[in-house]
Amino acid sequence: MNDGTIVELAPAKLNLALHVRRRRADGYHDLETLFAFCRDGDVIRLAPAVADTFAITGPFGATLAVEGDNLVTRARDAFRAAFGVAAPCAIELEKNLPIASGIGGGSADAAATLRALARWHDVAPDESRLFGIAARLGADVPACLLGKSAIGEGRGDELRVVDGLAGRGVLLVNPRVAVSTARVFAGWDGVDRGAITGDPAEDRNDLTAPAVAAAPEIATVLGALEALANARLVRMSGSGATCFALFDAPADARSAAAAIGAEHPGWWWLASELA
Ligand code: C5P
Repeated sequence: MNDGTIVELAPAKLNLALHVRRRRADGYHDLETLFAFCRDGDVIRLAPAVADTFAITGPFGATLAVEGDNLVTRARDAFRAAFGVAAPCAIELEKNLPIASGIGGGSADAAATLRALARWHDVAPDESRLFGIAARLGADVPACLLGKSAIGEGRGDELRVVDGLAGRGVLLVNPRVAVSTARVFAGWDGVDRGAITGDPAEDRNDLTAPAVAAAPEIATVLGALEALANARLVRMSGSGATCFALFDAPADARSAAAAIGAEHPGWWWLASELA
């Protein structure tokens, strides 16, 4: 676009593994998680304007409220406070990803808003103040701001980049059931099942059992993905309900999507590629 609009993708986030190690005194849990990102997601568009506006479009736009406690406007306001800028802007969120679904959503949108504002105001994308703002907005926002495969520790916001995942095909499937992250964490049984190995196939998602207890459809999705012949890894992401299958190539993910879509027309799916 040449009208001054800044466009930032808010990629779907995956937890290829998620080990819950302990409850913390602050209500959070210490994790070890392997984050990865897709090449598709929500989109943030930001343009200079005479007054602030915020609009939500896209297939899942109607499920989100524009007014009130939205992570996009909170990210905008936190950026302004941190960097001492006030120029008004119009922000559009194109909501392509289902909400409360374990693939970033609001966290990815907040991170993309910070990236867009940083571009507009000539702030370097790796500026440490941006990561400070991100960590205060939510546990997954720093990982989404980084936007690269990484091991996350602590709340998930102590990050170490890992290479070697880009280009793999991935199919995301959600049974169109929203799941509360706080509720799923609260259902964790408190058993520390050990450290992450870094090999996704050896690792696990410790939130699967409490998520399935909240939304039994997740077990059906996992079963359907496990039945796909050439899937290399099948797992739930985050606190669910979205599950994913990894493939060697994006074309494999697209043909798997056609099969899953034909068998379960009510499910949401996205065939993508790891970034
Ligand atoms: O930080 P965010 O608002 O995304 O987290 C949502 C909820 O998920 C938290 O209120 C907490 O209940 C739970 N959570 C957790 N431990 C983490 C991350 C999230 O208990 N590491």
